[in-house]
Amino acid sequence: MQPLNRRNKLFLSSRIREMTILANENKAINLAQGFPEFAPPEKLTDTLERISTEKVHQYAPNWGISELREKIALKQSGSFGLDVSPEEVLVTCGSTEAMISCQMALFNEGEKVAIFSPYYNSYEANALITGVEPLFINLDPPDFALDLNRVEDVLKKGVKALILCNPANPEGKVFTREELLGIASLAEKYDIYVITDEVYEHIIFNPYVHINFASLPGMFERTLTCSSLSKTYSVTGWRLGYVTGPENLLREVRKYHDFFTVCAPTPLQTAAVTALGFDRDYYDELIQLYTEKRRILTEGLDDIGIRHTTPQGSYFVLANISEFGYESDVDFAHHLVADYKIAGVPGSCFFADRRNDYIRFHFAKNDVTLYEVLERLRKLKKGEPL
Ligand SMILES: Cc1ncc(COP(=O)(O)O)c(C=O)c1O
Repeated sequence: MQPLNRRNKLFLSSRIREMTILANENKAINLAQGFPEFAPPEKLTDTLERISTEKVHQYAPNWGISELREKIALKQSGSFGLDVSPEEVLVTCGSTEAMISCQMALFNEGEKVAIFSPYYNSYEANALITGVEPLFINLDPPDFALDLNRVEDVLKKGVKALILCNPANPEGKVFTREELLGIASLAEKYDIYVITDEVYEHIIFNPYVHINFASLPGMFERTLTCSSLSKTYSVTGWRLGYVTGPENLLREVRKYHDFFTVCAPTPLQTAAVTALGFDRDYYDELIQLYTEKRRILTEGLDDIGIRHTTPQGSYFVLANISEFGYESDVDFAHHLVADYKIAGVPGSCFFADRRNDYIRFHFAKNDVTLYEVLERLRKLKKGEPL
């Protein structure tokens, strides 16, 4: 038999999904894969139920149904402070597909992409799949501050595009306007495209504010903004995302989307029009909900005496496990899931320098589950069995 693609060996299946499998096998609480434990908004599920008998069961237009693209264009116009037209919106199967379709459209094999570290796993995998060399720009714990000299050192190595996750997974950093302006001026100086991943744009904690990179002067033309309905409307299984960008770039992204997926699911796109019509109260309540969950988890960890990051946005904390004396965070994660029935993600898979002193937990859980997790962690800390 002929050998398979040599790229298969370059990356593993996602550590996050692997921990989910272990969570299920061990009947553990899954704080690894970031999806809400609670139901999506009722208005949305009611709409889905109502439209299920309508004519929504065949292929949608490749670029997305027009009602949804119009709503997304309106939303982005408000956020970008620019007139975004529905022709500048492409509906995809999640931000995941959006991001790889963007990379396919921009890169030739052998070119270079810049990625901030820590980073969401799929960016590195996408680079390896597309034959692109990832160059990392480290943001150092505990504050993950941006050092523009580091950015420039990497960009000047012939990078074609930079990936910007804002708010960032896993460390919850929200880039300030000043930081974004600094990146923008370097993008201009080195003529670099920017692909953003803004799936947590609505999960952002006071006093931090989300600024779309594409809203900065001159940046719309070189930016492909990827976002998603997954986190904002608690529908990670719907697999709906979108890319916004100038038509000349989007036209090329659309071709990959066409051959990868044909289109995003028509019934879900149709129902999603309702979500994009929610008023300000919905988003304020979402922030309140996650602010309380962040409080429960971070105050609980403080009380137990486990050091951790406090996210400015997104729904993750990195818990510092160095005091538990494990050489490998993967071993620690296995111990945690087997003996304390909590699944987290070994932090090493998010850091280019593979530092292994963190476990990532997400807190999109019911409050009662978070309190149960804290009880179990208290036992772990005391060295007591579950
Ligand atoms: C930063 C980031 N981007 C993208 C995704 C996946 O988004 P989607 O469900 O829209 O594919 C996730 C999911 O955890 C994420 O954390």
